[in-house]
Amino acid sequence: ESTLGAAAAQSGRYFGAAVPAGRLSESAYTTILNREFNSITAENEMKMDATEPQQGQFNFSRGDQIANWALQNGKQLRGHTLAWHAQQPGWMQNMEGPALRQAMLNHVTQVATHYRGKIHSWDVVNEAFADGGSGGRRDSNLQRTGNDWIEAAFRAARAADPGAKLCYNDYNTDGINAKSTGIYNMVRDFKARGVPIDCVGFQSHLGTSLASDYQANLQRFADLGVDVQITELDVAEGGNQANIYGAVTRACLAVSRCTGITVWGVRDDTSWRSDNPLLFDRSGNKKPAYHAVLDAL
Ligand code: XIL
Repeated sequence: ESTLGAAAAQSGRYFGAAVPAGRLSESAYTTILNREFNSITAENEMKMDATEPQQGQFNFSRGDQIANWALQNGKQLRGHTLAWHAQQPGWMQNMEGPALRQAMLNHVTQVATHYRGKIHSWDVVNEAFADGGSGGRRDSNLQRTGNDWIEAAFRAARAADPGAKLCYNDYNTDGINAKSTGIYNMVRDFKARGVPIDCVGFQSHLGTSLASDYQANLQRFADLGVDVQITELDVAEGGNQANIYGAVTRACLAVSRCTGITVWGVRDDTSWRSDNPLLFDRSGNKKPAYHAVLDAL
């Protein structure tokens, strides 16, 4: 196959990219996006600060630009993200307790309802686990509303959009480590108790090496009965970039429940990182990493 999306589709998977709404009017950009990718994620436009800038007043204009582009061009749409400690609107940042819990649940309900029927997978909760060796939750205003805030968010999302796959999404989970094991234990508990969770997203913001147990980690989650997805892949530039992209792609293809890969941007000049971590250079040329991915698909 000659494009990432078509090659991924051969095994029933998607290959996606994160997109900022502002780029949808740049034809050189959308030419690549439309040609190569069959899924998109809003880079910022569906986050809490973007969608509920004032409490109870929702603004879906920029998110809808992304959703409409996906619909018009036949792309799957990942929803990112309903509840997160970061990129909260100002009014939420200083809230706490039952008022914050209620505001969070209302946000999940309203946003998931607005996009009902359009989202393939929602990152319901993003980055709720701590880095380092504790394996526990990250401290945040949401966490301080009670340890059950994550399952409450998932139940609200399921009620609002029963057709969407509901994912937990996090980073530094690229191998079997304390953080990924903490998440693993939560997912196992959710499955045992019937909390609605369908998938786990592995952001995979990577440096110059890849954990040797990257695939084994994906597989242990899949064995719990959830899909796994690579949701925000980007890799530091350097001698290993193409090799790491290829290895991540092969790992996903080796796990039958790994249903798709999303890279966190299209061209290096549009990345949130400054180390040229993407598959296309700033002129839109395919990099060696692109060919490594395509060969692996
Ligand atoms: C990043 C965006 O790419 C930036 O434009 C923004 O300034 C900050 O957020 N983990 C996530 C993504 O889940 O939402 C983040 O996206 C990157 C890290």
